[in-house]
Amino acid sequence: MIRIAVLISGEGSNLQALIDACASGRIKGNIVSVVSNNAQAYGLQRAQQAGIEHRTFLRKTYTDNQSMDMAVADYLQQQQVDLVVLAGYMKILTPLFIQRFNGKILNIHPSLLPKYPGLNTYQRAIDAGDGEHGTTVHFVNEEVDAGAIVLQAKVPVFADDSLDEVIERVKAQEVRIYPLVVAWFAQGRLQLRDEKAYLDGQQLATNGYA
Ligand code: GAR
Repeated sequence: MIRIAVLISGEGSNLQALIDACASGRIKGNIVSVVSNNAQAYGLQRAQQAGIEHRTFLRKTYTDNQSMDMAVADYLQQQQVDLVVLAGYMKILTPLFIQRFNGKILNIHPSLLPKYPGLNTYQRAIDAGDGEHGTTVHFVNEEVDAGAIVLQAKVPVFADDSLDEVIERVKAQEVRIYPLVVAWFAQGRLQLRDEKAYLDGQQLATNGYA
């Protein structure tokens, strides 16, 4: 059983999906810690309810980004974490943090990367008149939202959709694909080598399809 940490900033619906997948045995791993950079994150209550150790690290406590990241990294290493799962953690990680967990950090980003890295992805897709949007699970490297793609889910965007409808449609897919990818990692089926993702020894295409 691998030891997993989940980093959050808000609602925690992806965290909940991971908690449920560990509890049901779909993920052969234990979430040993939840870290938040926001004391009000609802995900902290989810961790509490599931009996998972949780900690809040506030940026204002530290002189700079890097010292905050090193405090989080020290804590995760004390917890002997095998995998760091970013689930709506709205902070860009510093290179030193990423180097300390190289090949062991996954992120989920609400767009069909490489389209729309960064913020406000839904509004950007709607404004561009895109007929589809989606979400991407990828390994984290030192560039924002640019690491090797593991899996994507696409959803349609209809002309009369509200922003909330598109968000809801994408989030319904996120809670399906993120546990799947974490399960692969926990089974030792998924690796990052030379900035490329491999599943069962086969390199994944850049769009996340084998
Ligand atoms: C998710 O939709 C995730 O894709 C997004 O934050 C949301 C968190 O929701 N992540 C990013 O935007 C990262 N750039 P949740 O707290 O309900 O899981």
